[in-house]
Amino acid sequence: MDMKPINPAIGMWVSGVDLANVGEAEAGALREALIDRKVLVFRDQPITSPQYVRFMNIFGETVQEDLVPHEGHPTELCILHIRPKEKQTINFWHMDYSFRPNPTPHLSLAAQELPDCGGDTLFCNLEAAYEGLDEETKQRISSLETNHKVSPTQNAKARFSPKEYKAMTEGEPVRHPLVCRNPDNGREYLFVNVPIYCRSIVGMENPEGDALLASLYAHAQRPEYHFRLTWELNTVVVWENTHCLHYPVSDYFPHERLMWRLATRAVTPPQAA
Ligand SMILES: [Fe+2]
Repeated sequence: MDMKPINPAIGMWVSGVDLANVGEAEAGALREALIDRKVLVFRDQPITSPQYVRFMNIFGETVQEDLVPHEGHPTELCILHIRPKEKQTINFWHMDYSFRPNPTPHLSLAAQELPDCGGDTLFCNLEAAYEGLDEETKQRISSLETNHKVSPTQNAKARFSPKEYKAMTEGEPVRHPLVCRNPDNGREYLFVNVPIYCRSIVGMENPEGDALLASLYAHAQRPEYHFRLTWELNTVVVWENTHCLHYPVSDYFPHERLMWRLATRAVTPPQAA
């Protein structure tokens, strides 16, 4: 198995491994590389959906997220299908589920059908983003918390029952620290998200707080902290959802795109730094 960093801040190309047959030593090396690099990219992996689930279990217990399982596939397999003439409306930097007390730690996508060009995904490293802040800002935000709450998006209907969705929208916001510490490597990271999920800073629900939050969200998007992935058929990507933001670019209308998706079980909330 060969590994090569994608850029200094984030990402690892991984080759010379068959995701349908990953040995114990390789699995350990992949877990370590993911903690260090945040995103692993594998090309040319034509695996079946049961093989895909077994592979993802290297990183955690896979969980069912689509309310209705897909016929002929394991219950954990989600399908993100943008049909011809349907426009992907998620077109911004975000992490999934920050509005939950325990957001999903790992996500994966496997490309099954792609437009001829377009439909790239960008990933940024929130540990690198934190490190890149000036000392004054680090001091200013060190003990702040933020309010997170769900908003309707294109995937919400497939993933949340009406009851769960109602509880999330009508309940109190979920609070998370703005600066968290990753227990796996001891590094601090900036826990920010798109404003439709990360609504405000606790106790600073005012223009000053909103401007600070907006500046941190914009800071995380700087090119030093991210890379842009152009998918190929059978590209598989695994990433640390809560330590990254991702941006699925919606530029391929009216073409089709179909991705398999897996998520692992969330067991802990983000830890304050
Ligand atoms: Fe997402």
